[in-house]
Amino acid sequence: MNPLGEIVEQGSGPSITAPKPGGTLNRFRLGFVMLAPILIVATVVTFLPPDGNERSEWVQFIGRFHPLLVHFPIALFLLVPVLEIVGRSARLAYLRLSVNFVLALTTLGATSAAMLGWCLGRSGGYSGILITQHMWGGVLLSIICWLCWLLRTQLREFGVAYALALALGVGLVGWTGYRGGQLSLGRNHLTEHMPNALRSLLGFEDSSPASAFRVDPNTFYGARIHPIFAAHCISCHGADKHRANLRLDTYRALIKGGEDGPVIRTGNAKNSDLYRRITLPAGHDDFMPKGKPPLTADELKTIELWIGAGASETLALNAIKGAPTGVATTAAAEVKFEEIDSAAVAKLRSAIGSAVTRLQSQFPNILEFDSRASADLRLNASILGSKFGDRDLEAFVPVADHIIVADLSRTAVTDHSAAAIAAMKRLHVLRLMDTRLTDATLLRLETLNQLESLNVYGTPVTAAVLPTIAKLPKLSHFYAGHTGIIAGKSVPESLVGRLVF
Ligand code: HEC
Repeated sequence: MNPLGEIVEQGSGPSITAPKPGGTLNRFRLGFVMLAPILIVATVVTFLPPDGNERSEWVQFIGRFHPLLVHFPIALFLLVPVLEIVGRSARLAYLRLSVNFVLALTTLGATSAAMLGWCLGRSGGYSGILITQHMWGGVLLSIICWLCWLLRTQLREFGVAYALALALGVGLVGWTGYRGGQLSLGRNHLTEHMPNALRSLLGFEDSSPASAFRVDPNTFYGARIHPIFAAHCISCHGADKHRANLRLDTYRALIKGGEDGPVIRTGNAKNSDLYRRITLPAGHDDFMPKGKPPLTADELKTIELWIGAGASETLALNAIKGAPTGVATTAAAEVKFEEIDSAAVAKLRSAIGSAVTRLQSQFPNILEFDSRASADLRLNASILGSKFGDRDLEAFVPVADHIIVADLSRTAVTDHSAAAIAAMKRLHVLRLMDTRLTDATLLRLETLNQLESLNVYGTPVTAAVLPTIAKLPKLSHFYAGHTGIIAGKSVPESLVGRLVF
């Protein structure tokens, strides 16, 4: 018998008979054999999603065949409604004889393509919403192909359900393909090269690449540093792909670092992983930008000076003496910056304005506003090193609840500062690397419910702080290398995955 559904001549043309009793078991088996691989794909996609890391060369090699293979099931699936519709004419009715076979082939093709797609996504350094949607689109499409096949061969009375499933499948082919295009060619790939006349007719925004990011062009970071990353790095470390879990498209992400922790050590370019990588010989395994020409000497110098000066987001454009000029200034000129309502900003800052001015003159270069429009502050005392101690930190208590980023690394602060640190209730990032702070201070930080990143690398802190740290609701990274905390030992369940060594 023909397991893909029997066809008999019936007056006007061929149609599908109800399955014969003997054939049901066979079809059931075949249906299961076709469903099993789909379920396997759905399982791996659920439990082993792409996470931005690169893995085995072999899996990646196989995965690279995904774009090649994927077009076959797409073409086959789109053929089905054509065969069904054209086959309605009596003269071409024989076309419908092949539909079951085509659907079975499509299901197998779509499932194999989804499997290869997972290989590519999982091992190729992808992560984010685009890949997630694209992958689930693919899995769903395999299921719909299978469903169409099932309805067509088994349940001939469900003609409407079959037609609906086909229509849904066609829509899904388009949507999934669009997401795939965004992954390989960029988010705006369809509209990027749209002629300007058509663009304004349809009401699309200006397409200049700079409009994708907002940085302040009056700062050194915005005018000199960000354009270098935008030109050389964010194709792999941006919104769509975050290789090594590192994004370089915003200041906050850059400071947060990648899978191995921070990539910049403020004040110390030579010890910053980012700087190390861009200054390696181009053939080296760790060299960045990976597989591309190295940065120019001027670009390297600019980054080195900026990290050396504290890697600040708000440092003024002309604040670093001797920085090479002419680096990426054109890109900076195109950058759009936010409209700033100066009256509103003044109001926001009124409570702390004079205290900030006083602190800034007493401690030059270590206290800055988070942005031109904000009353949030960033404190970077690490550039003063051991010259900065408990008494100095106390001076910042009046502005403590405006500080969102504090770096006290390598300063002389001790546990006497515990209250001053705990007073910075809105901190997002706190760096205490290589200080003498102990458990006594850490145990008092439980009020920092905005804290996302805490770094105690190189301090005498012990595992006794872990239960307190585990309670911080927003903490995503706790850097505890070179402390009394030992990897894998007595780590509370809720900290696993957030603890970095
Ligand atoms: C073609 C893609 C690509 C480009 C372009 C690229 N990178 Fe990378 N980057 C990677 C991959 C893949 C990794 C992870 C593998 C590794 O560690 O070598 C990585 C890792 C890194 C890391 C290590 C992060 C960590 O936590 O382990 C840093 C730092 C880095 N890149 C900086 C840069 C900088 C700076 C640029 C631009 C000058 C850049 N990359 C451009 C692909 C790229």
